[in-house]
Amino acid sequence: DLSTFFLGRPLAAPLMNASGVWCNVTNQLNALAKSEAGAMVTKSCTLVRRDGNPEPRYHTLSMGSINSMGLPNEGHLYYLDYAQQHDYENKPLFFSVAGLTLDDNLTMVAQIQDAYTPAMVEINLSCPNVPGKAQIGYDFEALDVILAEISSAYARPFGVKLPPYFDIAHFDEVAEILNRYDKVAFVTCINSIGNGLMIDINSETVLIKPKQGFGGIGGEYVLPTALANVNAFYRRCPEKSIIGCGGVSTGEHVFMHLLAGASIVQVGTALYEEGVDIFARLKIELARIMQQKGYQKIEEYQGKLKTI
Ligand code: DHB
Repeated sequence: DLSTFFLGRPLAAPLMNASGVWCNVTNQLNALAKSEAGAMVTKSCTLVRRDGNPEPRYHTLSMGSINSMGLPNEGHLYYLDYAQQHDYENKPLFFSVAGLTLDDNLTMVAQIQDAYTPAMVEINLSCPNVPGKAQIGYDFEALDVILAEISSAYARPFGVKLPPYFDIAHFDEVAEILNRYDKVAFVTCINSIGNGLMIDINSETVLIKPKQGFGGIGGEYVLPTALANVNAFYRRCPEKSIIGCGGVSTGEHVFMHLLAGASIVQVGTALYEEGVDIFARLKIELARIMQQKGYQKIEEYQGKLKTI
């Protein structure tokens, strides 16, 4: 039985897409809605439509992917329209917002609020692929300001998508900031590991066109970093739920994220590579692990990672 709860709402399975993958346009969103995913999220949106960066802007790597999409999206009103059509009885919908400025974020959350959609807002504080913009997730003063402003502009609970952190002092400082804001109900860890580089030896060139080949790294390369961030924030933010993202392509990976403290596990690179049927496979693989271990329910092991 893979059913569970997220912030009091029932989920058929603790699986969903990672924002950016299979969620740019209605066709893809409808495919996610029909899939075995227990929840879904829209592409991070900006106030107005963007074409994104020149192609090629995604490349498959031996253990994952590199991308610099540049926030191609249809503009927030397109996703708001989808959110108003979505069947919330079928599965919860998250609404990913990635304003280029604080004001854009405030405008978008105000409009989402006025639309009375049940979608849960996920504010993306970690988009690494808009040249000239530093990630808010790495600017702790800006992080505090945006959480304060959104908390006063937006009446409902919301979540934040964070970049990976690599230092215990940073886990402490970010968690302390998040814990000042009761409306921050969930934390999604992690976005891609920013600004990696991979090289084709034959042609002696980079693999993607934007940013001289630099791009966000996803897939199995990032699994240990993702698990560390999930567990670090799970331990430090006991009042919040954690959504795990990073390096998930098998039921074992899902199980690890759940053990580390995730309540839902997102799939990015592997969903891009395999398509929406991956959710059915991950459910079978996770169910098999639970059966082998004698677990009936996710709650029996979720967050119960042991230390030695
Ligand atoms: C893009 C990449 C990200 O990692 C993100 O969080 C948002 C957008 C992009 O390049 O489109």
